[in-house]
Amino acid sequence: MIGKSRGRMTKDGIRIYEDADFAGMAAAGKLAAEILDSLSEHVFVGQTTGAIDKIIEDQVNAAGATSATIGYKGYKHASCISVNHVVCHGIPGDKKLKDGDIVNIDVTVIVDGWFGDTSRMYVAGKLSRKTERLLQVTHDALMKGIEVVKPGNTFGDIGHAIQTFAESHRMSVVRDFCGHGLGRVFHAPPNVVHYGKAGTGSVLEPGMFFTIEPMVNLGRPETKVLADDWTAVTRDKSLSAQFEHSIGVTETGCEIFTLSPAGRFHPTYQV
Ligand code: MF3
Ligand code: CO
Ligand code: CO
Repeated sequence: MIGKSRGRMTKDGIRIYEDADFAGMAAAGKLAAEILDSLSEHVFVGQTTGAIDKIIEDQVNAAGATSATIGYKGYKHASCISVNHVVCHGIPGDKKLKDGDIVNIDVTVIVDGWFGDTSRMYVAGKLSRKTERLLQVTHDALMKGIEVVKPGNTFGDIGHAIQTFAESHRMSVVRDFCGHGLGRVFHAPPNVVHYGKAGTGSVLEPGMFFTIEPMVNLGRPETKVLADDWTAVTRDKSLSAQFEHSIGVTETGCEIFTLSPAGRFHPTYQV
């Protein structure tokens, strides 16, 4: 049922989408997740991130969809590929992956005007114990955030759940980048921060669409952006990981639009 309160904007400028809009988001999210599912075999020692990006671009085109990142603020690639101490917005290129590299691949597609945005971690070669823990904690931090998404809870509850979980494992949460509203646009209010106080921030309502995409570091949380104006790295050069889902708030909780059809989202399926 489409309530008469749908299709509006909250006082905080957050769009409330209609029930029928969930299907559009699910289709976009599914394509993005299917593309990520296909990449496990393409991440290996000696592979370049540029070659992976080309595979992604070809798949977006083959599906009759559009890449949201090509042409976005001058960005030229179908994905962001962030290796080791790169926190996010790594630019695909000629550099070859080395044994033990951890790799975040972030893909955003547009299907019939709806945006599907998701990222997950891959490994080239062999994963060390310490690094495996980083991937596990980052994945679980995202899921802890998603668990508290339901009407009546707040955005602060999401950040609080993620931060307390990551810090309980003596890892840190990046403050300089956040999740975002999306839907028929790529980046919309609110900023979905991955730290904070329970009970603060806007109240979650059915029909809100946004991403949660925590970046977790083994060292300190501070980042800096390199001279290319995109690549964000940890200042202390510690390893960083990230997982991202696009979700929609329902009457009872949320729908995850970017679930892996092949069940490959969890890091243990990549190794
Ligand atoms: N997909 C990223 C996000 O999660 C945004 C990438 S913008 C780009 O919001 F231009 F760097 F691709
Ligand atoms: Co995003
Ligand atoms: Co993304």
